[in-house]
Amino acid sequence: MSDTLVHISLREGTENEARKTESIRPNDPLSKEILRLKTELNAVLLAHNYQIPEIQDLADYVGDSLGLARQAAETDAEVIVFCGVHFMAETAKILNPDKLVLLPDRNAGCSLEESCPAAQLKAFQDANPGIYTIAYINCSADVKALSDVICTSGNAMKIVEAAPKDRNLLFVPDENLGSWVIEQSGRPMELWKGNCYAHVEFTADSILAIREKHPDAPLVAHPECTKAVRLLADEICSTEKMVDFCQSHTASAFIIATEAGMIHRLKKECPDKAFIPAPTDNCACNECKYMKMNTLEKLHACMLNKSPYVSMPKDTLDRAKLPIERMLEMST
Ligand code: 13P
Ligand code: SF4
Repeated sequence: MSDTLVHISLREGTENEARKTESIRPNDPLSKEILRLKTELNAVLLAHNYQIPEIQDLADYVGDSLGLARQAAETDAEVIVFCGVHFMAETAKILNPDKLVLLPDRNAGCSLEESCPAAQLKAFQDANPGIYTIAYINCSADVKALSDVICTSGNAMKIVEAAPKDRNLLFVPDENLGSWVIEQSGRPMELWKGNCYAHVEFTADSILAIREKHPDAPLVAHPECTKAVRLLADEICSTEKMVDFCQSHTASAFIIATEAGMIHRLKKECPDKAFIPAPTDNCACNECKYMKMNTLEKLHACMLNKSPYVSMPKDTLDRAKLPIERMLEMST
């Protein structure tokens, strides 16, 4: 058996150029056992860029929400082990109704998902007949089922630009991503009042303080950051596009305003460059408590017990599938 893992990343605009990066396969007993179970289950291990380094290093694919959805749509593995948060594993299940989709911790939620209960969205839609609903993928299956199309931070502009010109638009649930898309596209949209509790912790003051220490380092920020932070950024993009930006830029150091797990991925992809986690007012780097619920121990347990796994009513799954498939078609 080879002692390296191959990570294959498919990126927006370069979908046909699978980029391969090699990483050293972890050698500790628990990691070895996880890899043995992966073979036994005929499973694929998908991990988001915010996962702990030990999980990223074991995964078959590490990427952003869009890349992970594409991987889930294309895999021929029998079992999907999804290391991210619940809505991401749920998306994989919607795309693979007949497959077992395991996740290390059922309680790994998301503040954006919580901010948009399906009943409230339905009430808004009923009060605004004909409104075209674009849902950021960070939402529940029930919200997806009520939406016309899904988007991620990697394709939000493309999805909004392709929306019917004769309909009013509603963007749920991230007001920061939504307002960033409005600024660029010039297309007005109603914005749901939700946000990512982790990204709104970055402030203009905390960013200005770190910039003073590293005046030559470009600031790369996720669009879930507030406008005050986005205004200071040299680049605003999804986590996967951060890799492309830092690889192609001539700078040797970058300030990264997103969840701290991203630093591990960036260091791996750009070993000769330095990455400075943007501080918040309270801490030196910013972690999503939900993403960090997943541990190697829980990953091992879910594969051993084949539980927890994602399940949902067939009707929800069928209705949620259409807007996700529409997104995948529109972003190829
Ligand atoms: P990306 O799709 O850019 O990885 O973002 C996912 C997310 O949850 C950001 O907080
Ligand atoms: Fe949700 Fe924010 Fe965590 Fe991403 S970082 S999963 S948006 S709470």
